[in-house]
Amino acid sequence: MHSLTLITAAAAALMPSGAFAGPVARAAANCASPNYSVVGYGAGTTGGGSGSGTTVTSCSALTTAAKAGGVIKVSGILSGCGIVDLKSSTTVTGVGANSGLTGGGFRVKGASNVIIRNMKLKNSPEGKDLIEIQKSTKVWVDHMDLSNNGITGDKDYYDGLLDITHASDFITVSYTKFHDHWKGSLLGHSDSNASEDTGKLHVTYHHNHFYNVNSRLPSVRFGTVHLYSSCYEGNPTSGINSRMGAQVLVEQSYFADTKLAIVTDLDSDQDGYAVSRDNVFAGSTTTRITKTGSLTTVPYSYTLDSASCVCNMVKSYAGTGIVA
Ligand SMILES: *[C@@H]1O[C@H](CO)[C@@H](O)[C@H](O)[C@H]1NC(C)=O
Ligand SMILES: *[C@@H]1O[C@H](CO)[C@@H](O)[C@H](O)[C@H]1NC(C)=O
Repeated sequence: MHSLTLITAAAAALMPSGAFAGPVARAAANCASPNYSVVGYGAGTTGGGSGSGTTVTSCSALTTAAKAGGVIKVSGILSGCGIVDLKSSTTVTGVGANSGLTGGGFRVKGASNVIIRNMKLKNSPEGKDLIEIQKSTKVWVDHMDLSNNGITGDKDYYDGLLDITHASDFITVSYTKFHDHWKGSLLGHSDSNASEDTGKLHVTYHHNHFYNVNSRLPSVRFGTVHLYSSCYEGNPTSGINSRMGAQVLVEQSYFADTKLAIVTDLDSDQDGYAVSRDNVFAGSTTTRITKTGSLTTVPYSYTLDSASCVCNMVKSYAGTGIVA
């Protein structure tokens, strides 16, 4: 069946319990119709708008364009740009399948309404994240390819692939490949930051591919995370790590050989919470949910693709060159 079925509340009443989450309609699909609109907590993010923008082919041009905001198109792999700060109302997107940064990264700090899309980022400057979002709202990270050199070398030389901290809120991360590194995506940088982060860090992750990453896929302190229709393969230590009272809802995702695919009692003084719904755990995958969460509905409509087909789907539709 490849047709899109809208599950209404009336239809849901006829379905087995657990198939419908509440008053917000969820659509069910079978991986055949990717929808590249921004969905989830980051919905409404418009970035730099719809203009044709500025195309940049050097680090200096990129840095200058970033200070102006608007639409910025990175053409080719730019080397050694360092950390480029993005301001409010900016879209930075790659041209074609092979544009982005090596030896650089993006920081969104104290900003709102930013889109980062269609780029390969690899090898951040020492001690930095490839993408760092802090004190910011409405950010959409889409169709990116984020990696370093593998689970090898100094664990802390490169920091995270995508870290979201300091009360950032209303973010969506979609159709992105996270691979070949120690540390994936950290939400909430410290157990000690409850006062700043509690009630913030609402993030939706969907249609992402996480492979050969040691841990933090994501690791969530305090936040509220909805993760669906994603593919995990060969992550040797932990996948979704809910800590410090975080609430995580994980649905229709496929986990192959991911130790502790979902875990709630690792690494922090206080456990997190999780709800696991309609996931597939295969190979050597394990899970450990000590506290069942209360996040069972989200305040938006979304389309779930089935866990059984989602790995093939993200291999075709996530990463660069799809929305060039
Ligand atoms: C894609 O998703 C957007 C946002 O949810 C929605 O408005 C739009 O109708 C969807 N398109 C299709 C073809 O389903
Ligand atoms: C937590 O956030 C506040 C506000 O930004 C900051 O002043 C404080 O230093 C942070 N604490 C830690 C442990 O990072």
